[in-house]
Amino acid sequence: MASLSPAFLDELRARTPIAAVIGRSVRLTRSGRESKGCCPFHGEKTPSFYVYDDHFHCFGCGEHGDVITFVMKSTGAGFMEAVETLAAEAGLEVPKSSPQAAEAEQKRAGIAEVLEAAAVQYQKWLFAPEGKPALDYLRGRGLSDATIKKFGLGWSGEGRSQLANALSRQGITPEQLIEAGLMKSGDRGPVDMFFSRVMFPIADRRGTKISFGGRILGDGQPKYVNGPETPAFSKRRSLYGLNFAREAVRKGEPLIIVEGYMDVIALAQAGFGGAIAPLGTALTEEHLEDIWRLSPAPVICFDADNAGRRAAMRTVELALSSLAPDRTLKFLRLPEKEDPDSLIRSQGPAAFKTQLAAALPLSAILFDMLAEGALTDTPEGRAALRARLIEISGKIPDNALAGEYRAMLLDRFFAERPRTGGKMGSKKFGFPAKTPVLRVPRPAIDPATADIERGKILTAILLNHPQLLPDVEEAFALVDLPPDCAKLREAFSAYIASSPDLKLHHSNESLDLQGHLTHLPQNALRVAAARILAMSPLPAGAAPGATLAEAADLWWEMFGLMRSSRLKLRDQRDEQRQRYMAAPDDPETVQKFIKLNAALSRAERAERDPD
Ligand code: UTP
Ligand code: MN
Repeated sequence: MASLSPAFLDELRARTPIAAVIGRSVRLTRSGRESKGCCPFHGEKTPSFYVYDDHFHCFGCGEHGDVITFVMKSTGAGFMEAVETLAAEAGLEVPKSSPQAAEAEQKRAGIAEVLEAAAVQYQKWLFAPEGKPALDYLRGRGLSDATIKKFGLGWSGEGRSQLANALSRQGITPEQLIEAGLMKSGDRGPVDMFFSRVMFPIADRRGTKISFGGRILGDGQPKYVNGPETPAFSKRRSLYGLNFAREAVRKGEPLIIVEGYMDVIALAQAGFGGAIAPLGTALTEEHLEDIWRLSPAPVICFDADNAGRRAAMRTVELALSSLAPDRTLKFLRLPEKEDPDSLIRSQGPAAFKTQLAAALPLSAILFDMLAEGALTDTPEGRAALRARLIEISGKIPDNALAGEYRAMLLDRFFAERPRTGGKMGSKKFGFPAKTPVLRVPRPAIDPATADIERGKILTAILLNHPQLLPDVEEAFALVDLPPDCAKLREAFSAYIASSPDLKLHHSNESLDLQGHLTHLPQNALRVAAARILAMSPLPAGAAPGATLAEAADLWWEMFGLMRSSRLKLRDQRDEQRQRYMAAPDDPETVQKFIKLNAALSRAERAERDPD
């Protein structure tokens, strides 16, 4: 088997949530932390097929595995093929199973060994006489010896190659220490990265050591030093404590995201085992992916100060673009001047538990976060805030969820409008006493002509957003269209065939389908296109100014509402599945099946919850 690195496979699994992948072909219902459905691998009427956050298991027939296995088993793909299919969907590049990849993996393994040896040495020193001040320091901060050992805390020694000397007996060279991030080259040879510091080993999710952080004893700058980026350690991907928190969260404890090493450790000691922290950086997209793999609604714990608020807002903005019903956040705002460690020290674990219970869902704090600092006593200020609320909800990819957020934020917006005597009170602007909640307008559709209208909207969207063509091609072909639109559809096919760029649609945002149409000889087409675009009301997602995501959402929503087209799509998908089974190794068949599956799931989603 090709040697893909465990890190890559982990990343792939993280980016292709198993429930979402399985959910395309199996109707899953969520029950608590897991989902279940009828097993696709044996005929059954009552669900005994369970999907957990990183694997599936059928209690009926015993099939089980991870997301890669699922694709292999359900499509008959080989391992590399399944990996490639999933990676393509996730926008990940499969590392060439090249000598370089193997070498990188070997490098990481080598670094892990060096770090492990260093950790052992650091711990030895912590409990040796020379480590006494450090041990006293940690005990003085309330850590028990069991906690110190669990987290593998140590003492760096005073530096001056003390570590290199100690490890040379095991054949570890200064070059290896440099590569592992424990030394750096200086003018007069390698020098220690860490000296006179309490050492905190940093591990990956599996518990393999990837770096260290070091804290100075008492006051002084810099307070913490973190290891440099190495082939094994990337700050934007690593979370301190994840290896421990994983276990705790599996056992049902809440996943809590805090700021620092000591917060993670103090929380764990106080019985909150699900604490993790980024390593001196803001949370990244990669972090969120890892976090959501463990918990659908982790608690972000942030300081009451401005920096903490800003960090929380940044996290929210980042989170919104991947928010889904099972991917959200909760927020816990600590009392002034406290961090979780200090709160537990001064008021005990119960105080933290109370705080935790009072953590608010994103939906409850988003309005306040956005409204904070907004100038809401002028029409201009209120209009700006209102635009921001709409813009923010538009970042949520899930159509139904975005609609809910938008409605909720605007409800709050209008509920908190200036009233007589209110502190924003500004009767002078003449707001009416009651304003209806603003909703994004939807086309009014008469049921008799509904599908014709929808067909026109589908066409209009594609005229304005031809980049969608490759994704919707198969589905669009199934729609019964009025003659004008059907002609245009033929022109679209010709256009796709003549635009190789379109196949790589994400690479080109400025395709000019309308320009293309105007160059066509048939005048009739131009007129048809113009008439469709002049249709009124043209829903927002079909307008030229809509984002690609908005256009796609509207497209699938409209398509999903067209019952006969939807059923045809389902038939096509089922036929393609048969082809699959017959030719499981043909990549084109696989691709087409996956595409049809994805299209169908979008269409059916729109049908289930037209927002
Ligand atoms: P804090 O300054 O909030 O410290 O840094 P803390 O975690 O409460 O530390 P204690 O309680 O005084 O020991 C939060 C995190 O920011 C990073 C570290 O990862 C730290 O845990 N940091 C902080 C640095 O990388 N360098 C620094 O100099 C300070
Ligand atoms: Mn602290």
